[in-house]
Amino acid sequence: MPQPHHMVITGAGRGIGRALAEQATARGARVVLCARSAHELAEVTETLRQRHGAQCAHPVVCDVGSTDEVQHMHDEAARFFEGPVTTVVNNAGIVRRGLIHETDDALWSDTLNVNLTGAFRVSRAFLPQMRAAHRGRVLFVSSISATLGSPTASAYCASKWALVGLMKTLAEENRAHGVQSMAVLPGSVDTQMLVGSGFAPAMTADDVAKTLAFLAFDAPDAMTSSAIEVFG
Ligand SMILES: NC(=O)c1ccc[n+]([C@@H]2O[C@H](COP(=O)([O-])OP(=O)(O)OC[C@H]3O[C@@H](n4cnc5c(N)ncnc54)[C@H](OP(=O)(O)O)[C@@H]3O)[C@@H](O)[C@H]2O)c1
Repeated sequence: MPQPHHMVITGAGRGIGRALAEQATARGARVVLCARSAHELAEVTETLRQRHGAQCAHPVVCDVGSTDEVQHMHDEAARFFEGPVTTVVNNAGIVRRGLIHETDDALWSDTLNVNLTGAFRVSRAFLPQMRAAHRGRVLFVSSISATLGSPTASAYCASKWALVGLMKTLAEENRAHGVQSMAVLPGSVDTQMLVGSGFAPAMTADDVAKTLAFLAFDAPDAMTSSAIEVFG
């Protein structure tokens, strides 16, 4: 009998996270949806439940910048799934712009706290149950900015390069414990984040979500530690 898929998606209120939630529930996964905006989470949850039933999705308002809120989200997920999480998707992210010599400490630390430390916090919270179950995948939404420099986005760029290091370390530490880890590095995607960036979209949120769904459902364990570019 196939094992159930229990997926936690951060940044699931819109954009790439929402597109993944739609694809994952269509494939029979149950999902915990995390973001700060309650109204966006409520709207996604309602849409998914109408399509796939009341038990397919559970919204948890959670700022991944807060260890306490991530712990609360972990506890809510444990109650909802009544079993171990199988996939964690670290997708929540922000971008704030400014030249390096005009970037203040708050812009720098807020960006790192959400994009990098947030992904660390969420991974840390769910890893023990995955290791105990000897099954799990931790996915990271990095960026093509993790392969190049991106003017006016130093903190964002640094956070996305660092995510690849976190992903690869997580893959090595958990290789013998049945837990795999991969990252997706998208180019410009037609989401709210791209608005005002000056970049034209090269792909849809669905394109990136398809790649994440492949890594969550289909990819062989041997792909652990892979950083997949989806450049458009
Ligand atoms: N769009 C692109 O061109 C592009 C390219 C490469 C990589 N990416 C990456 O893709 C990921 C998803 O972005 P997107 O393009 O889908 O942008 P988006 O539409 O702005 O979605 C971002 C999601 O993250 C959530 N979020 C932001 N800060 C959070 C926090 N502190 N705690 C919890 N959730 C938080 C947002 O909800 P709330 O604001 O309600 O919290 C929202 O649901 C990001 O990591 C981004 O860096 C995007």
